[in-house]
Amino acid sequence: MLMYGVFLGLNVWGVLLLSLALVLLVCSVGKKEPPGFPRGPLALPLLGNVFNIAVKQPHTYLTQLADTYGNVFCIRVGQEKTLFVCGWKMVKEVLVTQADAFADRPHQALYSRLYNRHTGGLLCSNGKTWRRQRHFAMGTLRTFGLANGTMERSICRESQQLHQAIRKHKGEAFEPAAYLNSAVANIICQVVFGRRFDYSDPNLQQLHATMTEMIYLEGSVWALLYDAFPALLQRLPGPHNRIFTNFQALQEFICAQVKSHKSDLDPSNPRDYIDAFLVESKDKAKGELGFTEENLVLCCLDLFIAGTETSSKTLQWGLIFLIQNPQIQDKVQAEIERVIGPSRFPEMADRAHMPYTNAVIHEIQRMANIIPLNGTRMATKDTQVGEYVIPKGSTVLPILTSVLFDKNEWETPHTFNPGHFLDADGNFVKRNAFLPFSAGKRACLGEGLARMELFLFLVGMLQKFKFSTVEGVELSSEGIVGMTRTPYPFKICAETR
Ligand code: HEM
Repeated sequence: MLMYGVFLGLNVWGVLLLSLALVLLVCSVGKKEPPGFPRGPLALPLLGNVFNIAVKQPHTYLTQLADTYGNVFCIRVGQEKTLFVCGWKMVKEVLVTQADAFADRPHQALYSRLYNRHTGGLLCSNGKTWRRQRHFAMGTLRTFGLANGTMERSICRESQQLHQAIRKHKGEAFEPAAYLNSAVANIICQVVFGRRFDYSDPNLQQLHATMTEMIYLEGSVWALLYDAFPALLQRLPGPHNRIFTNFQALQEFICAQVKSHKSDLDPSNPRDYIDAFLVESKDKAKGELGFTEENLVLCCLDLFIAGTETSSKTLQWGLIFLIQNPQIQDKVQAEIERVIGPSRFPEMADRAHMPYTNAVIHEIQRMANIIPLNGTRMATKDTQVGEYVIPKGSTVLPILTSVLFDKNEWETPHTFNPGHFLDADGNFVKRNAFLPFSAGKRACLGEGLARMELFLFLVGMLQKFKFSTVEGVELSSEGIVGMTRTPYPFKICAETR
């Protein structure tokens, strides 16, 4: 009996061991790479490199891997391989020189569930639908603001609200993040929904909290695990589920905006992006190019998320860097004094006469490193990149951190130095490796709007206030890294000038 039990026990263990051996065998067979395929750190049989990248600052870890494995290397999570590309020269090769081969987004499990695979909003669509929707969104941004000065005026109006909110603190310490989020969100809300929200509106605050958590989780190891093991993760509890519930909550908010637009739409007089999209959708044949109501909600969501998080986080970093470098803050304020004076609102035309301020804003964007990795791309054909062959269908991630801090491109990559963008005579100079908006066919479509927001909001604030930290408190330059790099919650003091 005992013998039988031991025999049975051995059998169970034997079966388990055999199964494990089989799984390992299948994994290692599946792991065979074609010749010329990039190397990477050793991966565990089932999990791959999950534990390597589950670190606090994954962008730093990944950028450093290039020192060991070269500028193109492979990281595996489960059976999903991603090829990371580092350094300005190699990233340019992928994003610009071979732009057509890397214009598509991959079909990752997480985004396929969030976005409808066939339409995919602006961020996740491909092919004709993406081209048409991108073109339409850029045209609408121009119509409702960039081309006729409307946007500039609405940023100036929003600046006044922002200054009022800051002034209420009478020089006492306060957290600026919520105000900056609201100010920036209101600009894209006016283009997309045709309305702004009061800073104290609980809906707006709730939307921010939902969005911030979702964006953090989308850039976390949970998202990678979901892509690697979707069938398993779909059934497991865990933080990854909040990506879906938060996305749903944001969609519901947008659906309500679309519904109210439909109720009073005047096709001859579109007021904003939603109206313009609804008018375009009336032509049934365009349904194919993503002009459906379902895709309208996804596109609005993309514009709202991409247009809020990035600019507002950059402004937060801007205040941090200028407080850390008071002599640079003084020099910007001296230039504002000289070109604009104390009372007139700043205009975009002033930028051409403010090379130092322009250089500081570029350096803020470089050091802020708001999207430390980048959007993922997919190779649409076998493509030679440097000495490597990237097979068709591979997921490719050109890391922006590796460009913005490339030691071959920047004199002092890890020090805040506006001199990176100035020549010996103090004139502004462009730099090739300045890529916060990425590059190539899929580069940020809101770059024009973002640059306008950064200049007008920042110059407006510095014209009216001198910013400092709470006595004895040092502000941290380390950020919380998800899809974006967010400052830890911080307080500042704003003294009226
Ligand atoms: C400082 C502000 C901003 C930064 C640093 C930034 C950066 C980026 C980056 C790195 C990408 C990925 C590009 C790629 O995959 O190669 C991107 C895509 C995108 N951004 Fe921005 N962005 C900013 C502001 C905005 C604004 C204000 C809007 C809205 C009008 C916007 C809308 C988008 C959209 C829709 C995409 C997807 C484009 C596509 O897939 O074709 N962004 N952005």
